[in-house]
This record gives sequence, C-alpha cells and structure tokens, in this order.
Amino acid sequence: MATKGMSVLRHIVEQERKFPQATGSLTGLLMDLIYAAKVISREVNKAGLVDILGLTGEENISGDEIKKLDEYANGKLFSAMDHGGHLCVMASEENDEVIPIPDKFPKGKYVLLFDPLDGSSNIDANVSIGTIFSIHRKKTEGENGTLEDCLQKGSDQVAAGYILYGSSTVLVYTTGQGVNGYTLDPSVGEFLLSHEDIKTPSKGEIYSANEGNAKFWDEGTKKYISYLKEKDSDTGRPYSLRYIGSLVSDFHRNLLYGGIFLYPADCKDPKNPKGKLRLLYEASPLAFIVEQAGGMATTGKENIMDIVPTELHQKVPLIIGSKEDVLTYQKFVGDYAD
Ligand code: AHG
Ligand code: MN
Ligand code: MN
Repeated sequence: MATKGMSVLRHIVEQERKFPQATGSLTGLLMDLIYAAKVISREVNKAGLVDILGLTGEENISGDEIKKLDEYANGKLFSAMDHGGHLCVMASEENDEVIPIPDKFPKGKYVLLFDPLDGSSNIDANVSIGTIFSIHRKKTEGENGTLEDCLQKGSDQVAAGYILYGSSTVLVYTTGQGVNGYTLDPSVGEFLLSHEDIKTPSKGEIYSANEGNAKFWDEGTKKYISYLKEKDSDTGRPYSLRYIGSLVSDFHRNLLYGGIFLYPADCKDPKNPKGKLRLLYEASPLAFIVEQAGGMATTGKENIMDIVPTELHQKVPLIIGSKEDVLTYQKFVGDYAD
C-alpha cells in the first residue's frame, strides 16, 4: 500500500512484488535511471555557476543546436545505463544511430530511448527542462539490440516517464499500472512519493501551442484554436494560453491541471511538415503516461500509441492532454479536413 513520502525504490519494489515472475531487471533499470536523474539534476541546478551553459557548436540529426547541458545529460545517462546488464541497446535524440552496449558489459532484455534534455533552448534562461524516457522489451534474436528493437509502437512500451528539473525535481513514470509522481528531497538524495495515482482532468481550461506557427497550420487546427478563445459554455470564459516552449514542463502542468498541448504539423512549413516533436522519445512516452492518467494523445488523425515507427528520429504532430479537449480537436480537424 503506497503512502505519501514513500521512497521511489520501496514503491518500485512493492509494485514488482505484484508480478511473481518479475526478475527485478526492470527495477534495476529504473534505479540506474533514477541515479542518472539525480546527477543531471545536480548539474542543472548549478548550471549557471559552472561553464556548462551555452552551445557546443554542433547540431543533432533533427537540426537542433546541441547545448553543453544536452551533451552532459546525454553522457551521464549513457554511462549510468551501459553497464547494469538490463539493456541490449539505447537510442538518444542526440545520437544519429542507435547506441550499442559495449562488448565488455552484460546485455539485458530491455531497450531504452531517451531525450536527455527536453526544452534545452530554455537552459540559459533558467526555465524548467526535463529528461524523457521510453522502455521497450527486446524483440529480435541474439543478445545485442538493433534498430528494429527501437522501432516499436507506443502501445508496446514496458514503461515511460520523465524527470522535470524545475522548482523541484520531479520524477513521473508509468509501467502500465497507473501514473505516480515523486519529488526529490535533496537533503536525503531520494525521490519520495508526492503524486500518487495521477489522473488528468477530463476537460481543462488551458491550451499550449506556439501560435507563432499558426499561419502554417491546417484549417481545422486554426478553427479549433479560435474556438478555444470564444466563450466556453461550461466555464463561461475562454481558455488560457500557457506555453513555456519546454514540452516536459507544458505537459506536466496540463497533466495535473487539465488542458491540451498542441504541436501540429506545420504543414505549410517545409522545415516542419510533420511538426517538430519526435515520436520515439517525446510523443510516445508522454502518450503512454497521459493514457494511463485518463487522457489522450493523437496526431489529429491517429492515436500516437498506434503508430508503427519507420525511422529513429521521425517527427509526428502531437496533440495531447485532457480526453474531452483532444476529442473536440479531432472533431474540428475532421470537420475541416481538406
Ligand atoms: P528539445 O529541447 O529536446 O529539442 O525539445 C524542444 C521541443 C519541446 O521541448 C518544445 O515543446 C518545443 O521544442 C518548442 O518548440 P518551439 O520553440 O518551436 O515552440
Ligand atoms: Mn525534446
Ligand atoms: Mn532534447
């Protein structure tokens, strides 16, 4: 029985006990991930004091400028996860190809995909940023994982979560048994249960979108956003716009308060014809979490969790949040489909 303030390790072990066939490997994987999160949190929280802000001068395959902290977080995650014997392969937003587990280390049955630092354009301005992760089971033969093991649809995820480095450091994750949130108590260096069994409101009063891209949107999206600005029969007031430009932060706020986040296809922008967000380590893990919390995630045309990936860094339009709000969006897109 979970109690507020319970340590994340104790809660994970309690959850594991519900599955007699569990080997403890997923628990070990999550503990390695949690260690990496604590190290990254420490560096993020003192980034201004050490020479770790600014750009590396390189770009990743998605064309994003790589920040020093992106690279730091990427390195910390890889070095925390490569030797535990729980993984057969990893993939990161910052690495063009999949990352094999070094020969000298034992291999495991899980696949880890991650965005080491999401919202990194905000790092130098001290705006909240986060790490997003997605865990799949290996499905190919042999001990070494492959690209095929990474290209699995969201509904096959074993676990997914994020760590938000904000006013406090919060870990939110699911293994398909609901969603729980843990807050890092720096004085003991432990994540303690703070948000048990998170359920997102069925309808919100917040929308999150970069309206600077509005001229690139399809007609249905434009009509939907205009509708949100009109009087709402239930609340008698328009929705509020809240957009931080850090997906994990916008998502976490909407998960707790209710609301809808939209990064549609900028279909008239050759730079972002499929939108900007990546399926495997942004949209898919957050879709797993939001569905476990009673919400919904779609491209506008199909459920994010049903998409069969074809490329490691493929982008998808992402509309995610309170179920009633996402369903209303889908109706507008359907009504105005060209
Ligand atoms: P990342 O920092 O991992 O590249 O992700 C940035 C993403 C996401 O965090 C955010 O929602 C989106 O970029 C903001 O994009 P715009 O600046 O185009 O609104
Ligand atoms: Mn990101
Ligand atoms: Mn990133």
